[in-house]
Amino acid sequence: MKPKVYVTREIPERGLEKMKERFDVDVWSEYAPPSKEVIMENVRDVDALVSLLSDKIDAEVFTAAPKMKIVAQLAVGFDNIDLKEATKRGIHVTNTPGVLTETTADFAWALLMAVARRVVEADKYVRNGQWNVGWHPNMLSGRDVYGATIGIVGAGRIGSAVARRAKGFNMKILYNDVVPRSELEKELGAKRVNLDVLLSESDFVSIHVSLTNQTYHMINEEKLRLMKKTAYLINNSRGAVIDGKKLYQALKEGWIAGAGLDVFEREPTPLDNALLKLENIVVAPHISSSSYETRSRMAEMVVENLTAFFEGRIPPNLVNREVLNIQKLN
Ligand code: GLV
Repeated sequence: MKPKVYVTREIPERGLEKMKERFDVDVWSEYAPPSKEVIMENVRDVDALVSLLSDKIDAEVFTAAPKMKIVAQLAVGFDNIDLKEATKRGIHVTNTPGVLTETTADFAWALLMAVARRVVEADKYVRNGQWNVGWHPNMLSGRDVYGATIGIVGAGRIGSAVARRAKGFNMKILYNDVVPRSELEKELGAKRVNLDVLLSESDFVSIHVSLTNQTYHMINEEKLRLMKKTAYLINNSRGAVIDGKKLYQALKEGWIAGAGLDVFEREPTPLDNALLKLENIVVAPHISSSSYETRSRMAEMVVENLTAFFEGRIPPNLVNREVLNIQKLN
C-alpha cells in the first residue's frame, strides 16, 4: 500500500505528478489555506503531511495525526512548525533550501531597485494622468544604487546571493552574521561588521535571517534610528524580524528614506495596515521565490524528501537531525 500524504495546497504540477506516482495523495484544492481544524481532520490517518509556511503545524496537529512520520515543507523557512515538538515525537521535518536562493535574491534586488528608483510610484504617476510635463529635472528623483553601500544582515545562502549581485553594481558590501563568511570576503571584498555599524553605514540594508526568538523584532526602534535618513530597508525574509509599528514611524517621520517589503508580521497584511498608506515603500505578497522554475523545483524537492524517507533513507533536507537519535532510542 502506498503511504498516505495530505498536501495543504495545490503545488506545482511537476511535483504533484511525481508525488501521485509514489503516494496516495489528497490535496486541499482551494486557493485559500485550510483552517487548522481542517488540517487536523485531514491528517487523522496520514503517514505524511506536505505543509506551506502559512500552515501552523504544532502539537495539536501532531496529536491529531498519530501515524504521521514526516512533515515535508514547501519552503526554506519553517518557523511555522513546532520543531521541538516534532522531534520529541520522532517526526521528521524537511524543507526546500538552495533551489530558491537565486530567485529570492533576485526579488530582494527587485524591491531594492523599485524603492530606490521609485518605479512603482512612477508607474502610478503615468497611469493616473499626473505626467503632464514632458520632463522636469526634479521629477521623481530617487537614490543611486551603483557605487552605494549595501549591508547584508544574515549572509547565508540568500544573503550571499544578494551580495554577489551587489558586486555588479560596484557596491561596498558590509555584512553581519554569527559566523565569518570568508568566501564573501575573498570573492567580493565584503567586510564583516557588527549590526550597529552595518546599520549606520549602509545606504541599503537587506535582511536575510530566519525568524527565531533571537531575531524576532531585531530591527526595533533603536536599530532603525541608527540608519541613515537616506537609507532603505529591504526585507524578504520574515516580517516579524522588523517591528512593523516602529518601521511605520521610521518611514513616516523620515528616520529612513524607504523600504521594500515582501513579508509582514501578519500575512496577508490587512488593508488597514498603516504601512500601506505610505508612498515610500514598495510591497509584495510574499512572492520572492515565486518563479515558475523555482516553485516547480521546490515541489520536486518535497517529493525527493518524502521518497527518501519512505525508502528508509535520511531525507536530503532534514532540518531536525536530532530526530535520528530519538528514533535510535525508541
Ligand atoms: C519563503 O519565504 C520560504 O521560506 O521559502
